[in-house]
This record gives sequence, C-alpha cells and structure tokens, in this order.
Amino acid sequence: MLVHIKDLVKKTEKGKYALGAFNTFNLEITLGIVKGAMEAQAPIIIQISETTLNYAGVKAITHIVKTIAKNQANNIPIALHLDHGKSFSAVMECVKAGFSSIMIDASNLPFDENITVTQKSVQYAHRHGVWAQGELGKIVKEKKEIEHLVQHPEKFLTDPDQAQEFVKKTKIDALAVSVGNVHGVYKLEHKAPVLDLKRLAEIGKKVDVPLVLHGASKIPADSLKKAIKLGVRIINIDTETRHAFKQSLLQSLKKRGEYDPRKFLSPTIDAVAKVIKEKIIMFGSAGKV
Ligand code: G3H
Ligand code: 13P
Ligand code: ZN
Repeated sequence: MLVHIKDLVKKTEKGKYALGAFNTFNLEITLGIVKGAMEAQAPIIIQISETTLNYAGVKAITHIVKTIAKNQANNIPIALHLDHGKSFSAVMECVKAGFSSIMIDASNLPFDENITVTQKSVQYAHRHGVWAQGELGKIVKEKKEIEHLVQHPEKFLTDPDQAQEFVKKTKIDALAVSVGNVHGVYKLEHKAPVLDLKRLAEIGKKVDVPLVLHGASKIPADSLKKAIKLGVRIINIDTETRHAFKQSLLQSLKKRGEYDPRKFLSPTIDAVAKVIKEKIIMFGSAGKV
C-alpha cells in the first residue's frame, strides 16, 4: 500500500533504524524491490530520479509503482519519492502525480543559491502536503570527482554549521549529507571511501531533521550501523540493484535460442529482491511493517 513518507520516518526514530530508499526505473526492478521488502516485512521508500522521469515518463513509471504498491505489495507500506530532482518542473510534476516526498538537489550551486533554489521547491511541496529533501555538500559520482574528494574533502563534505543554517532557512524535512559517501559504480571496483562519522555526529547534533545517506551501495554494514546510531534515517541504494539486474540479465542471455524476453527478465526480479532483502536487514527495518 502507498503511504505518506512522514508516517514511515516518524517510526524510525523510536525504533532506531533506517528505511531503505530504493531506485526503480522499470517493472522488473519495482517487482524485485517489493518482493525483497515483502520477504523482509519492511516498510520502504521507492524512489524515481529525474533521469528516470526523462527515460520512462512520469505517468508510466509512477503508475507501475502505484499499481504494484496497491495490488501486489500486500501489507508493505511504500512511500513514493522523487530522487535528485534538479528542476522545479520535475518537482511540480511529481507533486501533481501524487508523490509524498520530493528531493530538490541544488548541491552544485553556491550555498546561498542552493538555499534559494531549495526554498522554492520546499514551499511548493509543503503547500501540497508533500515532504521535501535537500542536499548540502556534494555527493559526487564520477571517478575524477571522487579522487578530488579524497584529496580535498572540505570542498565536498557537509559543514555542520552550514547544515544548521540550511535546514533553518529552507525548512526541509530531510537532509542529504555528504560525509564521504559517493554515488555510483566506482565502489564496485574500488573500496567505498570511509565515512566521516565525527562529521556526521556533529551534523546530527546541529539539525533536528532526519538525515539521508545517499550512495550507500557497498558501504560496509558496520559503518551503516554506526551512521544509523548518529541519526541517519533513510539510506539510498541504486548501484547494487542495477548491478544485480545486469548480472542476472547477462547470465540469462547466455542461453542461446531464447526469444521470450519474459524468460530472461524474470530472474532479474529475484536477483534484485535478494539485494533488497539483504540491505533491509542491514538497515534494521526488517519486521517493522
Ligand atoms: O545518483 C543517483 C541515483 O543513483 C540516480 O541515478 O540519475 O542515473 O537515475 P540516475
Ligand atoms: P548508489 O547508487 O551509490 O547506491 O546511490 C544511490 C543513491 O544515492 C540514489 O540517490
Ligand atoms: Zn543519491
């Protein structure tokens, strides 16, 4: 069933666990996410990035998620969220499409401009009863940027005092932080950069909104558990599910002479479900429906 994100996040504080926020871009990934959540009996966030809106169309991808949430997810509460919204038009589209939460990611802009751009989306979202997430500090993705981050962390990481001001001025409901976490496939080949837990603790003391840890694929379980203790309430996973999907597909396509796409796509659902279930157990949200 589809629920408002605030109802899910509220419960994480008392239970001291984090919700998994999983990216989807098609039917099979969505079915896999929901299957994993049903097996683990966990509340989840399903998120759609602006890149996916452009790929699939807001109506098509939203209807897939909503229909599965309503008809095939049994008792699993699912909140629908826009991930890395870069434009105000994407924010408006998703609010109109019934998302209970949006992210406006203006983290590439200077601090003051990030505040101004974020404020506009927050005000629009709140007028429609929708939650808004902002990003401060930059959570990078490309290899070059990641190497730059390792050399000059202060250029990318969230400053705790700025975080306090950012939350106060923008009125965001959740804050995506940059504390050594990075996006994407770099982590499949290299070690994930180490989380700056001291910084995370400082941020946690200065802001009173739930913290969101992006780029969590391949971050070891013990680091994630420490991050949850310090106030992380939402953890984003995309790369590991994409990887599971791709590996499964490659394996199936080795069978020559198979022309029915359903035959080679259906194992991807189980492959994704396996990752989702493992992550949910790691985040402590298993059994929390
Ligand atoms: O980096 C963030 C998420 O994995 C979304 O990625 O914009 O390629 O859909 P995407
Ligand atoms: P990964 O793809 O690195 O898991 O990050 C996911 C994410 O942060 C989505 O917003
Ligand atoms: Zn992200």
